This record gives sequence, C-alpha cells and structure tokens, in this order.
Amino acid sequence: MKDSQINPYEHSDIKVKLLRLYLEKYINILALAKGVHTVEVYDLFCGEGIYNNGKEGSPVIILRLIKEIYYKSRKNSEVIFNCNFNDYNQEKTIKLSNYIAQKKLHYPEMGSLKFFNEDYQVIKDRIIQQTNIKGVKRFVFIDPYGYKNISVGHIENLLSDRNTEVLLFLPTQFMYRFEKKSTPESLYNFLIEVMPEEEKSMSSSGVDFIHKLRDGFGDKLKGKHYVDSFIITRNVNEFFALFFFTSHLYGFEKFLEAKWSIDEEEGRGWSPKFEEVDLFSNIGVEARTDKFEEKLITFLSQLRSNIELHHFTIENRHLTTHAVQILKKIQNSNNLIVNNVDNSKPRKGAFYIGWNEVKTNMIKCYFKYENNGTIKY
Ligand SMILES: C[S@@+](CC[C@H](N)C(=O)[O-])C[C@H]1O[C@@H](n2cnc3c(N)ncnc32)[C@H](O)[C@@H]1O
Repeated sequence: MKDSQINPYEHSDIKVKLLRLYLEKYINILALAKGVHTVEVYDLFCGEGIYNNGKEGSPVIILRLIKEIYYKSRKNSEVIFNCNFNDYNQEKTIKLSNYIAQKKLHYPEMGSLKFFNEDYQVIKDRIIQQTNIKGVKRFVFIDPYGYKNISVGHIENLLSDRNTEVLLFLPTQFMYRFEKKSTPESLYNFLIEVMPEEEKSMSSSGVDFIHKLRDGFGDKLKGKHYVDSFIITRNVNEFFALFFFTSHLYGFEKFLEAKWSIDEEEGRGWSPKFEEVDLFSNIGVEARTDKFEEKLITFLSQLRSNIELHHFTIENRHLTTHAVQILKKIQNSNNLIVNNVDNSKPRKGAFYIGWNEVKTNMIKCYFKYENNGTIKY
C-alpha cells in the first residue's frame, strides 16, 4: 500500500479543508432554509476517519461540522442531517464508528448515522434510484483512490433530481501522466466522456489538463448544472483536483466563496510553498480580476440588470465582491450609467447584486458601461 493511502499529506488536508469550508456554508444555509427538513450527506469512499498520524478524514470532518451547526441552529431550525458513510472495507467503517462513539460526535437527535460496506457502483445506483422527496437535499462526496470507478454519467444521474450537490476528488496527476503517454482503457473511457478526441493529447500542463476536464464536464452538463474545479498541487507538476457540481446558482456561489477564501488571488487552487515555483502563493494578495474586468466591461456594453450582472459574475467563477470592486472603479471614473427602475436617484456604490435581490429576482436597476459617458450622477 502506498504511503499516501495511509497518511494524508498536506494535499489531503487541503482537500478536507475545502470540503469543510464549502459544507459549512451549505449546511448553515440549509439549516435555516424554508421548506428543507432533511439533509442527506453521503461520503461514498469514507475511509477510517482517523489516521495513524492523528489527522482526521472526511467523515469525521463532516460529522464535527454537522454537530456544531445542528446545536448552534436548533433553536431556529428543525432540519435533521442524515449521515451515510460507505467504504467497501468493513474494517475501516468499524474503526470509524468506534472513533465517532469515542469522541461523541453523533447524537440521534441530529439525524441518522448509517454505515455501509458496498462497492461504489452499487451504492451510487441506490442513491440515484431514490425518489426525490420534497424538502430533502443531498450532498455527495466522492473521494476514490483512482478514477476507474468514476463516470460523468453517474454524476449526471446523481444530479438529476436537482436537489443534489456533488464534490468529486480525482487524482488527476496520474491521469495527466497517462494522457501524455499511452492511455489505459479505463482512463480512455473516462476521458472520452468529457474531452473531444482532438484535445485529449494536447494539454500543455497539469493545470491546463484539469481546466480542460472541468470545461469538458461543463459542456456535458451545460444548461442543467454548474461545474467548477479546485486544483491541489502536491509537487511541481503533480496535481489533484476537486470538481464541484450543482444545479443551483446559489450552491455554486458558495463553492466559489469557499475556494476563493483558500486562493484569494486566483480562486484556482492551492500549492505548497515551493522554493522555485510558487504557483498560487496567497499571502497578503489581492484577487486578480483583470480578465474578469475586461469581460465585465464587454458584457456591460449593453444594458444589464442587477440580476443579470449577478449571474454573469458567478457564471464566470468570480465573487460579487469582485464585481462590486470593478463597478466602483468604473463608477469613479464616470464610465458607468445606472438607471434605477423606480426612477429614483442611484446611490453611489449601491449595485444590488447580492443574494437578497437575486433570490427574489428583484430587478432594481440597469447598468451600462460608456467610456467617459456623459451621463453621470
Ligand atoms: C482516498 S480514500 C478516502 C479517504 C477519505 N475520504 C478521507 O478523507 O479520509 C478511499 C477509500 O475508498 C475505499 N474504496 C476504494 N474503492 C472502493 C469502492 N470501489 N467502493 C467503495 N469503497 C472503496 C478504500 O477502502 C478507501 O478507504
């Protein structure tokens, strides 16, 4: 067995850190969301939860978070969280269950706690076959050692109830290496689902390869689901990737917030501090938004509502805080026209692109970029 399979290294810490950051946002919202009574959480390759070096794995991270949020919000919430932990190796789930009991991580009032020892292929079909029950939301974490089991088709089926979010971790460094050399059949089958034939052998770097995978997923699921990636670097040219899938713009926004909080500069990924190559250093950095600014200005060459602007920002994998910064800059140089729909005088710096306006689809104003526009306020 490889060492990385026994002790999670730094890259695994980042994996669970992103899982936690995202889930924290997601669960906090669901705990208070109208109409939601149950959240089903699935960790389909859960492992043993605690490693020899004392590091805690995904199921324990998930449970600690659920416990914290459940007890914090229960005065205002009746949502329960059902945890479903699966690993085909029974020894691992026994160890996990003992650890959970020993650390008192679960109380029945929080929701159910179930362990399964199924093969992924079996358990994922069972989840897919479950009927969509009103008020139930699902989160599925898929963290295999390899990619052999995984198919975009499964992900699409899991998402088809439009109430499910999926976080998938893939050891893309092996895939990238294979892609460069001869491709084994299992990888070929995976790639053929997502990448056009001509692109399969053309990635110039691991990052490029992961972005191509992300865009391939995105094209396959276009119009139905949102997809994003987060790249975790272990060594120079050794990349892992988390892929996130959701049917909801809001879920997508929460994932973007989680990943931008780890990589404040590019919202792209994480790497250890290499001596020579420091791809994603993020100490005291500002978000790099130049490319987004260009796109946004082009987008604003036509009148756009606050709601359209919000969608555009999130679909371009940026945060509304980035859009606000850019809008302020354009406004300060008098290049932004703002028309409030109620004909009131626009307030400087008020753009209404937050979730409050978006969730009620409240069109408050229209924007347009005009280089040195004459209409000012
Ligand atoms: C990468 S580890 C999971 C690590 C875990 N998510 C964590 O954060 O600690 C993958 C786990 O999946 C299990 N596994 C491998 N293939 C499987 C399959 N086909 N079905 C179910 N479990 C599988 C292994 O026993 C192993 O514990």
